[in-house]
Amino acid sequence: MSLRRAKITAVSHYLPERRVTNQELAQTVDTSDEWIFERTGIRERRVIAKGQATSDLAAKAARQVLEKRGIDATEIDLIIVATVTPDMLFPSAACLVQMKIGAKNAWGFDLSGACSGFVYALATGSQFIRTGTHRKVLIIGADVMTSILNYEDRATCVLFGDGAGAVLLEPAEEGESGILDFVLRSDGEGGQFLYMPAGGSLNPASAETVQKNMHSVHQNGKNVFKFAVRGMCEVSQEILERNHFTAQDLKLYIPHQANLRIIRAAMEKLQLDDSRVAINIDKYANTTAATIPICLSEASESKRIIKNDLILMASFGAGFTSGSVLLRWEI
Ligand code: COA
Repeated sequence: MSLRRAKITAVSHYLPERRVTNQELAQTVDTSDEWIFERTGIRERRVIAKGQATSDLAAKAARQVLEKRGIDATEIDLIIVATVTPDMLFPSAACLVQMKIGAKNAWGFDLSGACSGFVYALATGSQFIRTGTHRKVLIIGADVMTSILNYEDRATCVLFGDGAGAVLLEPAEEGESGILDFVLRSDGEGGQFLYMPAGGSLNPASAETVQKNMHSVHQNGKNVFKFAVRGMCEVSQEILERNHFTAQDLKLYIPHQANLRIIRAAMEKLQLDDSRVAINIDKYANTTAATIPICLSEASESKRIIKNDLILMASFGAGFTSGSVLLRWEI
């Protein structure tokens, strides 16, 4: 069996319209624009409208991808939605997206990889292309983090926002490279440092779990910060080395957008300057599974990346999870 590489043939993103600035947050939370910007690089974030949910953001990004590629939703074979904030525990956000966009011939599932979700999903989806069993795979990273924030915890509620990004994967043509390689890791020992305690089978929803604020993000920020820098650098360096590239070969490095100081630490280690790094955390904060596809979509829209450019995506998130994907841009 001859294996065909997967390539991205379209990318798009969707952000809710409502902007919430640091100043606005500071009216109800004991914080300030200065503190948030200095410690994280965030200026504002987007927040969904009442009644909207993750599958709505995901479906909007997905429809735009189909439009850009000029294909009908019925041509899609598989939908993978990377998210930690599905509309509900079941059915999956992927099934809801399948219905909303009318992808009648697709199957799909959600992938829980937190901030590494998109990288995990891209690697997973590319395997279905590589084996030749699927020809059109939608990979979506979408999260509504504002649905699981405790606005009385200033150390977490200022960090996140809502958004979605999507790509279409198809087989690469003869002579094209597409997705070259990926490195994926999990370290369950890190679970204790970033998690949502209730709402699952361990602590089902009860008056007590609500009263104790257990349905929101709990985090040991200092520990996560330390592991994030190390984790993102490791998966970046490993994938470059084993493919015989250096960071200087990259047109664009797309790190997960969790904290500008984490990104800067990785840039220093990889010896990359701003001209080669995607940064938009100031506008959208941490949108979890959506940060990387949103960066990719913005870079493609602005023609910052063009055909044949070498791109490296790198992520770190709850789990702990980390991952990198190295690819050549083929659009
Ligand atoms: N506004 C004002 N003060 C704040 C604040 C806020 N939003 N959040 C925390 N503080 C205060 C703390 O209460 C603490 O005060 P104290 O010294 O009086 O106790 C002080 O700032 C320092 O807190 P600390 O947690 O040590 O700050 P930090 O420099 O580690 O920054 C984070 C906190 C959360 C910004 C940082 O740890 C971080 O970004 N970690 C990684 C988080 C992340 O990326 N998560 C997602 C991973 S995918």
